[in-house]
Amino acid sequence: MGAIDENKLNVFIQQAIGDLAAGFGGVMVSLGHKCGLYKGMHDAGPITAGQLAERAGCAERYVREWLNSQAAGGYVEYDAAKDTYELTPEQAMVLADEDSPVFIPHAWEVPASIWFDEDKLLRAFRTGEGVAWGEHHHRLFCGNAAFFKAPYQANLVSNWLPALGGVVEKLSAGARVADVGCGHGHSTIIMAEAFPNSRFVGFDAHADSVTAARDNAGKAGVEDRVHYEISSAKTFPGKDYDLVCFFDCLHDMGDPVGGARHAAETLAEDGTVMLVEPFANDRLEDNLNTIGRLFYSGSTTICCPHSLSEEVGMALGNQAGETRLARIFEEAGFNSFRRVAENPFNLVFEVKL
Ligand SMILES: C[S@@+](CC[C@H](N)C(=O)[O-])C[C@H]1O[C@@H](n2cnc3c(N)ncnc32)[C@H](O)[C@@H]1O
Repeated sequence: MGAIDENKLNVFIQQAIGDLAAGFGGVMVSLGHKCGLYKGMHDAGPITAGQLAERAGCAERYVREWLNSQAAGGYVEYDAAKDTYELTPEQAMVLADEDSPVFIPHAWEVPASIWFDEDKLLRAFRTGEGVAWGEHHHRLFCGNAAFFKAPYQANLVSNWLPALGGVVEKLSAGARVADVGCGHGHSTIIMAEAFPNSRFVGFDAHADSVTAARDNAGKAGVEDRVHYEISSAKTFPGKDYDLVCFFDCLHDMGDPVGGARHAAETLAEDGTVMLVEPFANDRLEDNLNTIGRLFYSGSTTICCPHSLSEEVGMALGNQAGETRLARIFEEAGFNSFRRVAENPFNLVFEVKL
């Protein structure tokens, strides 16, 4: 072993302890969300532990200890002179307001589910076998759906669809849309609410997700123009779609080229594929940051294992980047691949024959 640099060791220990605290922090966020503690603090101004406990209907001793953990983590402000706690408007956007595009508590369901699945992943690491989407703990499905719903709500209708040539005009007049790998269907429902003249069908290979998507469409009151079917990306039915969408799912597929080829076969003349993928640069060294850490971890535990569970098993990974994604559509027979939008979490492409 080489000589230990004390400074580097101390810096790295700080980082690792910070990460351990953040791991506990996830449990604290989940408890705070589910007990209604953040919501109880939203717009309440400075509040004591006793007052918050009463508002949320929880035991004061637990609430005080939880508040102290939140104050230590910078998730609430603490006034020592008055012994009160306060959620700032910025903290409320992230922790209390479910309609905010940066609401985070649901996202903690995803790593929570992965802890349950650790034995399956240990086996997969040792054998190289896959773990299918549906084999994961159920906390993954709602957590994933809720995590992606917020950026879709913030961007899909206002930014992404208008960035695709001529698509909004077709949707307004009445278009046929396929949402492949639709999960719980939030993307389909958001589009259907904005474009009542169009008809939408969501396809997903995971039966429980299709059931959840149907429930969500019912609750949103868009069943007249949206329906969902259990189907794989390589075999979904229908023809002459004006728009075929892949929201954060192409990289999960065992055979993304096969999925893209099938999309080509089902498109109407002058139809468009909209591809939404997690943000990534082409080169690993350009993804070595917090978002890269988050996404590579999800890719290791969710995306690659699912892809390896399907035929071909390409295991593209969720950090494929534009060049590799373009190559997939080129192999599938498409001629045009254009980046039309991006934000720190998403890349959006228009793909045409
Ligand atoms: C990360 S989730 C994304 C779900 C949804 N599009 C969203 O953005 O919330 C990936 C989805 O792709 C689906 N999926 C994976 N492979 C598939 C395939 N070969 N055919 C159809 N769906 C597939 C999974 O069942 C899962 O619902």
